[in-house]
Amino acid sequence: MADPKQEQRDRFRAEDPASGPMTTDQGVPVDHTDDSLQAGERGPTLMEDFHFREKITRFDHERIPERVVHARGAGAYGYFQPYRSCAEFTRAAFLQDPSVKTPVFVRFSTVQGPRGSADTVRDVRGFATKFYTSEGNYDLVGNNFPVFFIQDGIKFPDFVHAVKPEPHNDIPTGASAHDTLWDFVSLQPETLHTIMWLMSDRAIPRSYRMMQGFGVHTFRFVNAQGQGTFVKFHWKPKLGVHSLVWDEAQEAQGRDPDFNRRDLWDTIEAGAYPEWELGVQLVPESDEHEFDFDLLDATKIIPEEQVPVEPIGRMVLNRNPDNFFAETEQVAFHTANVVPGIDFTNDPLLQARNFSYLDTQLIRLGGPNFAQIPVNRPVAPVRNHQRDGYHQGEIHRGANYHPNSLGGGCPALADPDDPAFRHYTERVDGRKIRRRSPSFEDHYTQAALFWHSMADWEQKHIVEAFRFELGKVGAKEVRARTVEQLSYVDHALAVAVAEGIGVPAPQERPNTPQPTPSPALSFENNRGDGS
Ligand code: HEM
Repeated sequence: MADPKQEQRDRFRAEDPASGPMTTDQGVPVDHTDDSLQAGERGPTLMEDFHFREKITRFDHERIPERVVHARGAGAYGYFQPYRSCAEFTRAAFLQDPSVKTPVFVRFSTVQGPRGSADTVRDVRGFATKFYTSEGNYDLVGNNFPVFFIQDGIKFPDFVHAVKPEPHNDIPTGASAHDTLWDFVSLQPETLHTIMWLMSDRAIPRSYRMMQGFGVHTFRFVNAQGQGTFVKFHWKPKLGVHSLVWDEAQEAQGRDPDFNRRDLWDTIEAGAYPEWELGVQLVPESDEHEFDFDLLDATKIIPEEQVPVEPIGRMVLNRNPDNFFAETEQVAFHTANVVPGIDFTNDPLLQARNFSYLDTQLIRLGGPNFAQIPVNRPVAPVRNHQRDGYHQGEIHRGANYHPNSLGGGCPALADPDDPAFRHYTERVDGRKIRRRSPSFEDHYTQAALFWHSMADWEQKHIVEAFRFELGKVGAKEVRARTVEQLSYVDHALAVAVAEGIGVPAPQERPNTPQPTPSPALSFENNRGDGS
């Protein structure tokens, strides 16, 4: 079956004059490119040498700003195919017909480090998927953890500033251990659940092919009757979930900083195409308040015992990009890129993301026309009255306003019966208040749930990770405050971490559920000193 995205790429690729004599950007043949034009045998170089000036200028302008987060990534093309029609829950065209393959581009990434940092650092991994559907692009911009560090997007700049290298010396550049992050964590208990994931082996995936992905937020499916259903998205790797151990991860950082990128590239080149299953957790709107947490709180999972994950389709990645910069670097994902049948909820983190991605891409990709870049270009037709701007690649004709009676442009808006995107008609009520909902208050129960779901050896790795990372924090009060926070998750965990980093063991919290101490906590030879 023809792949419409590949056909579109082939048209762009056909314009690349891969062979033939060298020319300037103006198409003028060049006779010589190894010596600049000089006055006499030994110079000076002449301003008149337009080939020299163009060549150097183009080189000088090769870099664009790297992403403010998720700067380092690896991407691949492939397809998504549903197992069955999901019409009962969503009208999204790409989730209707099991015979239809929808082209995708996926970018995996680390979050904290710059573009040139190492792959195998302890960090969250991005897992962003662009579906080129027949009704426009749908982006599922997820991570390999099902939860996030903060509940409201207004805190994102604070969180990212704390995570990034310290402003005075730009250290550390590649790991999660330093004073500012742990200062933030110790003062912001909403981070704790995701911090538990960050200290677990999930934060050092062995391969992008062996990594889960999560949409994190509760989104909304909407069916053809306009009925909504809450939905959480899960990607499950066919190869299972596998991690490195910390020593391996550190060794890989030195021996092969491209460890995960190379693995993805090489396996696709070898034809061993990685595959994921897409699963959904579905919650009827009538059950919105049936949980002991808020569905709008991105620091919470819906436990699978409460709502099982239903597989609805599979994704295969089978083509490497031709050009890293043109495709992987210039791809622009955005949580607000949705299609009819998929909508938002009032999760305050999601609402902030819906502003942030387009805003940052306007600067990162040099203006408003980046949807015309081949990797971002929908396979669905694009027609509107948006015009001009930097890097306009279209030659628009006809009217550029609506309504118009003179012809051209796109005078007709969708007929009420057409499958256009229509925002879900959710009732919104209330007074303006700048305050977190009390339903977002519990920061410890699910952190504890995660801890107690771990096997002994996984708990051991988590304690070692806390000791390693916190052991590097210079400010003793930050170490102590973090351990204090951990004592609300699990006392034995807090004591084990405290022992390794030279701070007093915290008091037992009367309200914290105390399970039987795990044998994993009575181990001796831990390096909690940051060595
Ligand atoms: C980039 C995921 C929260 C702002 C990314 C990327 C992913 C991602 C996967 C990389 C996209 C790519 O490969 O190009 C997430 C998840 C979040 C989250 C799962 C929470 C559930 C936020 C929040 C904000 C934010 C709260 C801001 C309010 C950004 C920005 C970029 C980015 C500015 C860079 C985008 C670009 O330059 O193209 N995020 N993010 N993210 N994220 Fe998030």
